[in-house]
Amino acid sequence: MTRRQRPRRLVTAALPYANGPIHIGHLVEYLQADFWVRWNKMNARDCVYICADDTHGTPIMVKARELGLTPEAWIAKSHAEHARDFADFGVGFDIYSSTNSQENRELSEKFYAALRDQGHLRTRTQEQLWCDHDRMFLPDRFVKGVCPKCGATEQYGDSCDKCGSTYSASELKSPACAICGSKPNLKPTSVISVKLSDFRDFLREWVPAHSPVEAANKLSEWVEGELLDWDISRDAPYFGFEIPDHPGKFFYVWLTAPIGYVSSTWQLCDQRGLNFEDYWSRGDDEIYHFIGKDIIKFHCLFWPAMLKTAGFKTPTQVFVHGMLTVNGEKMSKSKGTSITARTYLNHLDPQFLRYYYATKLTSGMSDLDLGLDDFVNRVNSELVGKITNLGSRGAQMLAKRLDGRLSRLDHDGRALLERAQARRATIAAAYEARDFARAIQEVREIADEANKYFDEKAPWNLIKSDPEATRAVLSTTLNVFRLLAIALKPILPKYADQVARLLGEASYKWRDGEAVLEGGQVGEYEHLATRVDAEKVQAMVDASKPAGTPLNSNPPPTKSPPAQSSATTAQSSAAPNVIDIDTFGKIDLRIAKIIAAEAVPEADKLIKLRLDLGPLGERQIFAGIKSAYDPAQLVGRLTVVVANLAPRKMKFGMSEGMVLAASDPNESGGTKPMFLLSPDSGAKPGDRVK
Ligand code: MSP
Ligand code: ZN
Repeated sequence: MTRRQRPRRLVTAALPYANGPIHIGHLVEYLQADFWVRWNKMNARDCVYICADDTHGTPIMVKARELGLTPEAWIAKSHAEHARDFADFGVGFDIYSSTNSQENRELSEKFYAALRDQGHLRTRTQEQLWCDHDRMFLPDRFVKGVCPKCGATEQYGDSCDKCGSTYSASELKSPACAICGSKPNLKPTSVISVKLSDFRDFLREWVPAHSPVEAANKLSEWVEGELLDWDISRDAPYFGFEIPDHPGKFFYVWLTAPIGYVSSTWQLCDQRGLNFEDYWSRGDDEIYHFIGKDIIKFHCLFWPAMLKTAGFKTPTQVFVHGMLTVNGEKMSKSKGTSITARTYLNHLDPQFLRYYYATKLTSGMSDLDLGLDDFVNRVNSELVGKITNLGSRGAQMLAKRLDGRLSRLDHDGRALLERAQARRATIAAAYEARDFARAIQEVREIADEANKYFDEKAPWNLIKSDPEATRAVLSTTLNVFRLLAIALKPILPKYADQVARLLGEASYKWRDGEAVLEGGQVGEYEHLATRVDAEKVQAMVDASKPAGTPLNSNPPPTKSPPAQSSATTAQSSAAPNVIDIDTFGKIDLRIAKIIAAEAVPEADKLIKLRLDLGPLGERQIFAGIKSAYDPAQLVGRLTVVVANLAPRKMKFGMSEGMVLAASDPNESGGTKPMFLLSPDSGAKPGDRVK
């Protein structure tokens, strides 16, 4: 058996919360790690990319309830959406799992037992806010009230948006439960926590060697500071894993989340017949975590302490990136800059965002900005104008005028290609160091030189007098283009594969950049990248604004041509009450079967309905259709309901959705005719209407 030459690499990205969609802020991380993994893989490194949904916690439980789903159904839905978003952005996870797995439960219990058996846990009594109506303890984010420092209203239980001060939820004035609005009371409960101060000596050594230098000051402040106990239990009701020796208590989401890295590796190893202990328990395989700077404490203090206690290896390095801003500001729903992955995909090519983020990403921790004008300009001038143009001009002319055959390079061409090849070491070093901006800068400079060569040789003239010299010029151009495609492959894998096909080659490895193609046939040119249209960017921003915001309230990001054609006018400067498909997509319409109906005696309009929504379960809905229907007639009918309307507390009980009925807007009064919608035969309860 031959010994492995280089250690394998296990790479993780932080596990996104299952409670909401993937957005372009998240993508900074998943793309950054993807670039690095792809670099490693194409550079002949055994490397796996691990991720999963982070599925536990109160917010998931509350949201599922709001949607009328079980938490399991809700996280399954998110998982499917997240996996599709990542796949469509070309994020090549080797596994995309979930923290709500059997493997994760077993491992969580194992980590917990190790902490307990080694004496690192203690139990204290704590006063926490309890909502009598919802019968649960309220996490900080589920309490709203008046900031104790500045008096601002509508502030969460952990910190104030207005003055920035932090406090504990019990200090909040006039606290209210964010779910039901009632006033919570303090109630004592016991909380299990990890004595982090037990790990001070270990962390003193571990942290500087494995965390980014840029975070060193903050981290050493923590390590040398109080190292307060870290609470790892939460009381029922909670969606997560119950703690075996404490019925009614559950592992806090931040305990089961990082263990998801290990349990997902375990599942991957089972799928591939590998031994997961080789990655996490012994040997020289390397472990790298990509995270954002908001979750450093979890990864650089708690996590290594947990791993060490449970007898696992600790990460080789934690790589930390900064936060995304859009047009220089925090992402904002009202400005339409809180853009989900799906909305982006509905309007633009994912390769553009991959390219743009790469131009901005270094190994540092500073925040990065997506300037929407800059995005359009850079994609158009660099990726399309400089880089793709080389390939399209070279390949199309060769195919059309010279039978697509490549030849030997001429003297100047060889010198040009050699200069480009000489930069490959710099590009490789930049990739290894996660300095993607630097790699792209080299690519751009090579492209500049090649464009200059092309323009100086003027093949469109040369061909009139010397076709073979022209062939050499085009062959050179295509060789440089090929080298660029290889250099860009970690960032633009699809693009690089298209270029390989164009040149009749197999998917590129890094080493392929050493070769020179002097012969062979150029295949048919497929479109690689077309210019970004600023109007599409604007449409994406409009689609990201909350429903009800007038469309196109801002001017488009760059000078767009005046809307001459009526077709574009109709689409882009529509009347304020026109919504786009994304907005419509937010409404979850379902077929429901009426299983019970009774008039509400105290209300002249209402009928109380019990509805079956198939896989979504049963609902109670109050409908204002008493004037038009006899309840008995309704039972057994199918109709259409809005399934994701926030439940509303009415005088007679909760209404969990809305039944759709037609009526003439000009008629009014108690006996106004109403017509309940019904589907054609064949539709079943739970079917989606769209
Ligand atoms: N579930 C936790 C991570 C658990 S890891 C064991 C979490 N989830 S998250 O969905 O909020 O964020 C996932 C990752 O995306 C984090 O590393 C976070 O820093 C990153 N980002 C989320 N929003 C971001 C920006 N706006 N900009 C850059 N990265 C961002 O934290
Ligand atoms: Zn409540």
